[in-house]
Amino acid sequence: MIYIAPSLLAADFSTLSTEIKKVEQAGAQYLHLDVMDGAFVPNISFGSDLIASIRKCTSMIFDVHLMIKRPERYIDRFVKAGADIITVHYEACENPMAVVHLIHSYEMRAGIAISPNTPVEHLFPLIEHIDMALIMTVEPGFGGQAMIPTTLEKISALRKYAEERGIDLDIQADGGINANNVGLVTSSGANVIVAGSAIFKAKKPRSVILEMKASANNNPFII
Ligand code: DX5
Ligand code: ZN
Repeated sequence: MIYIAPSLLAADFSTLSTEIKKVEQAGAQYLHLDVMDGAFVPNISFGSDLIASIRKCTSMIFDVHLMIKRPERYIDRFVKAGADIITVHYEACENPMAVVHLIHSYEMRAGIAISPNTPVEHLFPLIEHIDMALIMTVEPGFGGQAMIPTTLEKISALRKYAEERGIDLDIQADGGINANNVGLVTSSGANVIVAGSAIFKAKKPRSVILEMKASANNNPFII
């Protein structure tokens, strides 16, 4: 199943509830929420209080991408704020598996993200224990960057590894994805597609979401 996850980072923050309703009505199933701490990444975005206040605007799945150092310190806050999926960075955790267990202890779905320079093999021992793997297709920190094509090889390698072992895993791709390149991303093996600028900066976000879904469904992963 393909899921489109618009990243709120690219939305107009002066009118958040309107922006959120727009993408929900257009058929996006997830809302991707990029939390940045100014330490793990060189940018600061928003935190759990903002997420708690937008929780009442929508019933979309809240897909929280934590770009923060030692995220175990804050998991409870994002649980309380209304997260559905919490993804932490492999590079930001002393013990990624312990953080996965912590997230699961709240009965939340858990994801692990890797940045472009982190080898995909680091995820292999974890995939049986997580609900989603996030392969960053740009350097984390900023929206609006161009996708790094070599990251697609990591998606393929991970999908192949999971399929060969009969592991049903959501693979999320995040960064620089638009209606023109989404087919490459899904045919590599990703099924949860994050798009910020391509959706929120478009004149007609609805058309972009429909176009992305169509292209994704026409370009499935084939082993
Ligand atoms: C980058 C974030 C992404 C980003 C996606 O650190 O994780 O979610 O906002 O935005 P676009 O689609 O504009 O690259
Ligand atoms: Zn993200």
